[in-house]
Amino acid sequence: MSASPRGAATPASIVDALKAVAGNPAKVRASFAKGQCVHGTYIPSHQAEEVTKSRSFTRPSRVLARFSLGDGNPDVADTDNLAPRGFSFRLGDTDHRSDILAQCAPVHYARTLEQMLAFLEVRIPGPDGKPDRERVEAFSAANPETLHQADYIAARPLPASFACTTYWGVHSFPATNAMGETRFIKFKIAPVGGDLTLTAAEAGGKSANFLHDALERQVATGKIRFSVLALLDRPGDPTMDPTIRWPDEDNREAVRLGTIVITGVEPNEACDGSIFDPANLAEGIGHPQDEIFAARAVAYAISLARRR
Ligand code: HEM
Repeated sequence: MSASPRGAATPASIVDALKAVAGNPAKVRASFAKGQCVHGTYIPSHQAEEVTKSRSFTRPSRVLARFSLGDGNPDVADTDNLAPRGFSFRLGDTDHRSDILAQCAPVHYARTLEQMLAFLEVRIPGPDGKPDRERVEAFSAANPETLHQADYIAARPLPASFACTTYWGVHSFPATNAMGETRFIKFKIAPVGGDLTLTAAEAGGKSANFLHDALERQVATGKIRFSVLALLDRPGDPTMDPTIRWPDEDNREAVRLGTIVITGVEPNEACDGSIFDPANLAEGIGHPQDEIFAARAVAYAISLARRR
């Protein structure tokens, strides 16, 4: 891969590139810039302790969460069915906090930081306001795995609401239970009522803020509920590459760790003053070991400093 004009692939150069792809809007997140802060509760299941001793997941707690959309452009339309949806949440008590950041696709678009920086750089708009299509196509042809995330999202119709789509934590997280047994899990956050999508005709009648406008009303119905599932690993699973799924992942044994119920909409300031920090995981859930995960906490802190 050729050397990047931004130098080495670091969390800082990646934040620069995320901002540049979106046209450098001021005072917003470098990624998933549009969103709504919410709160709710977490209720653990009886099976949670079989998977993890993390008190974040085995005890009831309040939840601070944020539904989000798209890249670093805060004006993306909710009707853009190619824009990824995000769901970040913090659960646990003061001494046992965990932040889980999830998105509506089970894979990330890059295996390494170098690949992520190169992926973003070819998408930075030129003087005509558009990325160079030929460069994007050449990069994609040489790096086909970087299309897995977008292909997954493009193959699905527009979700009917933030509450009606499944979110994935993507990385393989080592989980340790009370017996001291450690295995890898993947987080899958599944709406209790199932995924609901819109037909093209329904989607055509929606406004650019429909996901956000519907939230308050949906919260009032008490129906924004998600099962927090742990997909269990099998020997030989690829745990270091977030661009590929585990074999037969959709049919994996899944343990329900608990349920999140979103009970209120929060002023966005309650989420904007700090970050959901991927490295914030209470004992019992360890850090994924891939290179992409390792860079995330630093990148989020840089983004926070720049948007303040
Ligand atoms: C599996 C991979 C990833 C997933 C699922 C993911 C998901 C998310 C989500 C849901 C948010 C919104 C956070 C919020 O609501 O406040 C976010 C923000 C962000 N992401 Fe990621 N992300 C991933 C990888 C990365 C990587 C590798 C980097 C950079 C090295 C990165 C950089 C950022 C930045 C800078 C923000 C904005 C943080 C802030 O200002 O609060 N992400 N990401």
